[in-house]
Amino acid sequence: MHHAGHEISSVEDAARKAVTDNLFSPRFYTTDYVAMNAIDVGPVRAEWDAMMAEYEGDNNHDHFQRDTAFADEARELFAKLPHELQQEFLDFLVSSLTSEFSGCVLYNEIKRNVSNPDIKKLMEYMARDESRHAGFLNSSLKDYGLGIDLGNLKRTKRYTYFKPKYIMYATYLSEKIGYARYIRIFRQFEQHPEKRFHPIFRWFQRWCNDEFRHGESFALMMRANPKLLQGHNVLWIRFFLLAVYATMYVRDHTRPALKQAMGLQPTDYDFEVFRICNEITKQVFPVVLDLDHPAFHANLDRLFHCSQRMDEGKQAGGLLGGLKRAFWGAAGAAVFVRMYFIPVQRNELPAQVRMQPAW
Ligand SMILES: [Fe+2]
Ligand SMILES: [Fe+2]
Repeated sequence: MHHAGHEISSVEDAARKAVTDNLFSPRFYTTDYVAMNAIDVGPVRAEWDAMMAEYEGDNNHDHFQRDTAFADEARELFAKLPHELQQEFLDFLVSSLTSEFSGCVLYNEIKRNVSNPDIKKLMEYMARDESRHAGFLNSSLKDYGLGIDLGNLKRTKRYTYFKPKYIMYATYLSEKIGYARYIRIFRQFEQHPEKRFHPIFRWFQRWCNDEFRHGESFALMMRANPKLLQGHNVLWIRFFLLAVYATMYVRDHTRPALKQAMGLQPTDYDFEVFRICNEITKQVFPVVLDLDHPAFHANLDRLFHCSQRMDEGKQAGGLLGGLKRAFWGAAGAAVFVRMYFIPVQRNELPAQVRMQPAW
């Protein structure tokens, strides 16, 4: 469903979209830097050092550059797209930019506030990568006169405080699911180049290898601190897995034109991404969600239904609109709780943590 009120047709619209927080939009985070500073990666030293050597080698240093034909192709193809698809693509650019920049800001702040050399160096490398990713997306917005002032976004967007362990679970998952989403889109355009409606998709393979490696870094930090993966923390892991998967499902179904233009069905695409993500997270999480449980898919559809009704209430405004919104918000929360109690599958952690981006 599309709402005229959410259109992006000026730099102000794009900036407003980036700064606005709702349940499904990318957030900015702060955390406890003293606790981050205390993270000891000693138990995974060999794998850690190999990973740091990869960061230092920086095989993507020349990747995020645009040739002169890029902007021409971007403008030419965009002009041919139907209006709804243009809007969903702009929404995709703005929300992707916001989440890349969110990583950039968080990693930079951690870097500035810790002295532990392992963590400091890692954060510097990851901030370097995310800054390239954000800049590359912003260039694509600028092609349409919709560039976002990132300094201003950094100053004005609200920050959510997360304890380090929640940063670990949430950021690990967002890096890994980011990899899975991008590689699945890249593979689709590899098979159907005639469908590729923007040049940026040609960059996705090497781009998502950065995200994969960022995820590896959090995997190693968690495996080095096994308490994060045991006891009541397993309940938190289940919560974050479900929250990340459910958020993605609702968002993708809210803008179906984008996936359809790629020749993908949102539901199939999402489940393929969940399956890739489930395979990857076996490197670190002692549980995986049961994607084939009959209640899993059915409840995702219920969640999407609730979010649509909530959105209608918000659009309508007034007392009735507010009641509608509250009612469907509560209904959605109840569905989420039910999904939380769908039995999960146990997973034995492998001795070797690191994986290759092989999808
Ligand atoms: Fe990134
Ligand atoms: Fe990343």
